[in-house]
Amino acid sequence: MASITIRNLDDEVKDLLRQLAAENGCSMEEQARAMIRAAVEGRAGQADRIGQIEEKLRALTGSKEQAEPVVAASAKSVSRGSLSGRRILLIIGGGIAAYKSLDLIRRLRERSASVRVVMTSAAQQFVTTLSVGALSADHVFTELFDRNDEHDVGHIRLSREADLLVVAPTTADLMAKLANGQANDLASTVLLATDKKVLMAPAMNPKMWAHPATRRNRAILQKDGIVFVGPAKGEMAESNEAGEGRMAEPLEIAAAIEAMLDEKPKPLAGRRIIVTSGPTHEPIDPVRYIANRSSGKQGHAIAAALAKLGADVRLVSGPVTIADPAGVATIHVETAAQMKQAVESLLPADAAVFVAAVADWRTANAAGEKIKKVAGEGPPSLQMVENPDILAGIGHHAQRPGLVVGFAAETQDLIANAEAKLKKKGADFIVANDVSHESGIGPSGVMGGDRNKVRIVSRTGVEEWPEMGKDEVAVRLAALIAERLRQTVVV
Ligand SMILES: Cc1cc2nc3c(=O)[nH]c(=O)nc-3n(C[C@H](O)[C@H](O)[C@H](O)COP(=O)(O)O)c2cc1C
Repeated sequence: MASITIRNLDDEVKDLLRQLAAENGCSMEEQARAMIRAAVEGRAGQADRIGQIEEKLRALTGSKEQAEPVVAASAKSVSRGSLSGRRILLIIGGGIAAYKSLDLIRRLRERSASVRVVMTSAAQQFVTTLSVGALSADHVFTELFDRNDEHDVGHIRLSREADLLVVAPTTADLMAKLANGQANDLASTVLLATDKKVLMAPAMNPKMWAHPATRRNRAILQKDGIVFVGPAKGEMAESNEAGEGRMAEPLEIAAAIEAMLDEKPKPLAGRRIIVTSGPTHEPIDPVRYIANRSSGKQGHAIAAALAKLGADVRLVSGPVTIADPAGVATIHVETAAQMKQAVESLLPADAAVFVAAVADWRTANAAGEKIKKVAGEGPPSLQMVENPDILAGIGHHAQRPGLVVGFAAETQDLIANAEAKLKKKGADFIVANDVSHESGIGPSGVMGGDRNKVRIVSRTGVEEWPEMGKDEVAVRLAALIAERLRQTVVV
């Protein structure tokens, strides 16, 4: 099967793809896949739409002469004025990606936002207050103890006079400070003193991002309701470095800001919904684990669709390779036990949707050191014990959410198994999907693939939905959840 490696595309093409992905709120890989799929399946209804896709496909294959129409198309769709009247307080941390914040300021002002900037002392090593001030057309704030600004407690005023705080780039240091409640300079004091929503766009060396301390801090901040955009995987500014840690592109950050500030009346506004997604990894030893084929695509799409309807979504994700959905506070876990703990810590909630493929068993005797292969000793024997049943636990919990939805991935007796699960687990409905090879859904099947065919099993019967993309399943399911919650009073 042919594959496109985004990294190998021309920079210009990568930029175009990034812009389109940001506009559509998906990853670059998903954007490329969607465009190719739409073109191949001929699903693009109108001629001009097909033309657009062809242009984009040509751009993807690296033909620079053809890239121009795509630029024109995306330039047209820049939502000028979409942030009119909105006040963004941008905190620039001290990382190499600080140069991208200059473009972010431009993008936000292009959307008619007013942008006020706080720079850390380290940030000023990377970009000057002069350039930032020129682009933001405002005074740049750098000092906590500033005679001019502190006579009226400037750090409180900065937060009060903003609709949203954006930290870009977010350094490992700023994450650590806020996760621990430290406030020893203007940026960290403003962050601690605010009651406004905060969006963080981390950027750092992949090893810093993967460090257990940073992972711990991210989990704390996400639990506190801070929303993250990125980081992305890719090449770093440092030579010979690649991995996860690249700051999200300014257009992606602008899209996340638009989503967070979108105040159109939404059916799920004020509702807190927990979603689980992805597989769990149950360790055998520090390097080996038991996993399953779940990609997280369906669960992540549902979290994104619920967030679009205005829900305050808390996504608990097992280890996946796809990006956190924009605008969704995501908690990352590895094992079933960690997933259970994370879900319980998020109660109370209005609804919970359990999409994750949680391992039924874990090893009772996971080794602390890598198990060595010793000649003549044969393979180690693994003892398995049952994992906690998260769906049943929440379905019968004292703080049970008003609506509990489970997923049943089955390879046989789909409906009978889903009906049994519905009763046993205390769910309101079960979304049953056939994950067998016979499901007829493409060569990659449901698990890991992009399409799904589900049946909604409830006490009142079984509703069969046609085969569709996982994003479409997510949108329909979010609408169904909104409809079911409509009759429930917000507490
Ligand atoms: C050349 C250079 C590049 C750096 N890039 C980053 C970075 O991308 N991300 C990060 O978290 N820290 C980075 N650092 C380290 C931070 O600058 C350092 O932790 C600093 O204390 C952060 O301060 P702040 O959080 O107040 O902005 C870099 C340091 C240097 C010297």
